[in-house]
Amino acid sequence: MAKHKILVARAVFPEIIALLEQHFEVEHNQADEPWSRDQLMQKIRDKAGAFTTGGERIDAPLLDSASQLKICANMAVGYNNFDVPAMTQRRVLATNTPDVLTETTADFGFALVMSIARRMAESEHYLRAGKWDRWRYDMFAGSDVHGSTLGILGMGRIGQGIARRGAHGFGMNVIYHNRSRLTPELEAQCKARYVGKQELLQTADHLVLVLPYSAESHHTIGAAELALMKPTANLINLARGGIVDDAALAQALRDRRIAGAALDVYEGEPKLNPALLTVPNVVLTPHIASATVPTRMAMAKLAADNLIGFLVHGKPLTPLNPEVLV
Ligand code: DGY
Repeated sequence: MAKHKILVARAVFPEIIALLEQHFEVEHNQADEPWSRDQLMQKIRDKAGAFTTGGERIDAPLLDSASQLKICANMAVGYNNFDVPAMTQRRVLATNTPDVLTETTADFGFALVMSIARRMAESEHYLRAGKWDRWRYDMFAGSDVHGSTLGILGMGRIGQGIARRGAHGFGMNVIYHNRSRLTPELEAQCKARYVGKQELLQTADHLVLVLPYSAESHHTIGAAELALMKPTANLINLARGGIVDDAALAQALRDRRIAGAALDVYEGEPKLNPALLTVPNVVLTPHIASATVPTRMAMAKLAADNLIGFLVHGKPLTPLNPEVLV
């Protein structure tokens, strides 16, 4: 039987390309060239499957030009680049990579909490600039992590991982807000207390955002929400750009309306709101929360296994719209 044609839209581990080539005729992008939307549409046109990342928008116009397409496997747990209803309507399966990145991403979330609380990036820039000439009692004095209040907005698997680290490792008082409340068992495991959004904003010393991006969560944190936070509080976003109004955040940081922010994701990334680059009290990383070698390999392998599972064996591992299968 002829092999299905698939497209791998971005560079990925060579081992993953080799695995896919055992099953498919693969067109890849190992040169990691930035394809325009038109190029992506051209290339996907005759493919049965696509290996995508958060950077490829899979929406109705693209689907309408890709009549052979049966599956898009995202190498990410987030899938706001997919229009899932449009995919379901056209019987295109969507898959993502849950679970394999939870602990690594929670580690990174906690690293962001630590680095902004203890002003690590700001103090390193100072040192590298040759400005350190003596010890001072208040030099880069930050805020404590242990014993402080950790607020989590979005209490899925990654949020729970961050809560466990805070409660069990650092004796933090953990509060959270989520669309739905955790079971009593999970709340006990995370030592987390459910609160309303307003109380979360007003009480957290370190507020971590881990909710999925959607039209409803756009600008969940804007000027009004930032105004409710304590002036000593830090905001940490490792969810998705667009959940925070970055312009309002830059202004709040400049005005010291809040103490600091640590960001891994941005509105319109990889471009940043330039105002964020001009404020010192912010830690900025380039969307790397899941970036350890074993975890990125596990994500790539799961995306590949979804393509193989579905196109070769009829059984994907982590479908987002399983109704397409019946
Ligand atoms: C995810 O898995 O959603 C991460 O943000 C990587 O894109």
